[in-house]
Amino acid sequence: AHPVVIAIDGPSGTGKSSTSKAVAARLGLDYLDTGAQYRAITWWMLSGGIDIHDPAAVAAAASKPEIVSGTDPLAPAITVDGTDVSGPIRGQDVTAAVSAVSAVPEVRSRITRLQRTLAAGAPRGIVAEGRDIGTTVLPDADLKIFLTASPEARAARRSNELKGNGGTPGVAATREALLKRDAADSGRTTSPLAKAGDAIEVDTTELTLEQVIERVIGLVEERK
Ligand code: C5P
Repeated sequence: AHPVVIAIDGPSGTGKSSTSKAVAARLGLDYLDTGAQYRAITWWMLSGGIDIHDPAAVAAAASKPEIVSGTDPLAPAITVDGTDVSGPIRGQDVTAAVSAVSAVPEVRSRITRLQRTLAAGAPRGIVAEGRDIGTTVLPDADLKIFLTASPEARAARRSNELKGNGGTPGVAATREALLKRDAADSGRTTSPLAKAGDAIEVDTTELTLEQVIERVIGLVEERK
């Protein structure tokens, strides 16, 4: 069988990561968290004192860090210049800065190239999740899913995750931060967050994670 390529896009808090990892693990496919790559380059810029609100400075630095993404869905580590940054990239400083960095075209072209190389090298195929996978990175994907959910459901989920990570911002603050990031990601010029014309939209507001996973796997089977 030829490798299967699955693109899962959508805003944050819709269940993209949990769904993508589980689908990849159950189908024996590689997994790629493209948000983690944008977070990793952002972490590197913040650590190096680069002014992330200066697009020229960000563009000039975009090709410098070496970013290596693990593609095992059960342990998707990511390193920058050999340092594992899986933990630090989830920090609030990175979350607040990532939209500005990822809007810079030089950053996007660099990261997009890495993503296409990983997808092309996946022996059995890949589940790649992000914002522009179906529209820009892998427009020929076998299956494109666009996940949505109400802002309330998304904020509640994200707030729960942050609790698990030691931070405790309230649901209201989380909702504001999340909507601000969506607006920036949807409003940028270069490959904004958008549903591909041939993507299947799944509203996860009233669904459990298991139901979303089964829905996606059902759609994969239909396509065989
Ligand atoms: O998915 P996650 O919330 O970790 O993504 C972090 C940020 O990375 C997004 O808010 C967006 O700015 C950027 N991103 C992107 N394109 C992707 C994936 C993520 O611009 N394909």
